[in-house]
Amino acid sequence: MLRALASLFFYARFYGQFSVAGLRRRRADWVDYDQDLSGQTWLITGASGGIGRAIALQAHARGATVLAAARNRQKLDALRADAGNSERFEVLPVDFSLLVHTRRFAAKVIGRSSPITVLVNNVGVLLNQYQRTAEGLESSLASNLLSHYLLTETLVEAGAIDPDGVIINMSSGGMYGAALDLKALTPDPAAYDGMAAYAQHKRAQVELTRHWNQQWQGHPKVHVMHPGWVDTEGVQSSLPWFRATLQSRLRTAADAADTALWLGSTRPPPAAAGIWLDRVLDDEHAFAFTRKPAPSAKDLAEFLRAHSQLA
Ligand SMILES: NC(=O)c1ccc[n+]([C@@H]2O[C@H](COP(=O)([O-])OP(=O)(O)OC[C@H]3O[C@@H](n4cnc5c(N)ncnc54)[C@H](OP(=O)(O)O)[C@@H]3O)[C@@H](O)[C@H]2O)c1
Repeated sequence: MLRALASLFFYARFYGQFSVAGLRRRRADWVDYDQDLSGQTWLITGASGGIGRAIALQAHARGATVLAAARNRQKLDALRADAGNSERFEVLPVDFSLLVHTRRFAAKVIGRSSPITVLVNNVGVLLNQYQRTAEGLESSLASNLLSHYLLTETLVEAGAIDPDGVIINMSSGGMYGAALDLKALTPDPAAYDGMAAYAQHKRAQVELTRHWNQQWQGHPKVHVMHPGWVDTEGVQSSLPWFRATLQSRLRTAADAADTALWLGSTRPPPAAAGIWLDRVLDDEHAFAFTRKPAPSAKDLAEFLRAHSQLA
């Protein structure tokens, strides 16, 4: 009962920003920008469906070479067909819930001749039950956080990301309900709460963005964004009641792709704090309880380094 009330409060608090109504309000202030992405290479994880697919297709339509990564080969082939089977559109099957796959994938990207201009760390799953991977990790932690940490660190370390490029971490408004807690990143299987785990991963992405900007000093720049509430297959399978309630008020995947395309094109300087939504940098906290006490970005990075087995 208490939990249902808390959810109701949460959704009511953010309805005006995260629904399509928030997008319409902010869109009125947008200005035109140079959308030509010719000569750039965009790598998008989780590109076979939802928001990642929309980013991939739009980046390609604006002239970028696109590397689209996801698990499902058929969906990837259909995506490439939608991009006209263009030579500038490459699909790369990979399972980011497995570190061994992520390492192999990173090596493949490093072997390419041109560096990545924009990396969008977009995979994000909300699991309703605890799942352990063959590597012994909780599956959503591996998919949402560890693989992106491992991939990004490996690519930057190898010089495979253009130093003037951009990394975009796709978080979620769900992180507003969580204070970062490293212990909660490795939950007890018997007491698993998929929504709470997801909120932790998404809060961690905000902290990780800060860490990377401190570490790399803007070369490359790192941004964290969230897409608002979007009608995708992921929402349909993880939160069917939410989708059924808000359906006509949800954004489209193309709406949600906008901020990623804008960040990758205009490349604003990294911010010390905040999270992007609809081209605006919002406060990363909405409630006092998420501010303190929290582990530092450095503590989080140490946790991720150890758990992703990065040497
Ligand atoms: N939709 C929303 O309202 C919403 C709100 C806030 C934040 N977000 C965030 O936005 C991002 C995209 O969400 P979405 O709603 O578009 O999700 P989605 O519809 O579930 O699509 C997820 C994509 O990730 C891929 N994927 C999932 N697990 C993978 C794995 N282990 N390895 C490789 N690829 C994997 C899926 O393709 P395959 O099955 O082919 O692998 C699919 O292409 C996520 O980070 C999510 O947390 C979404």
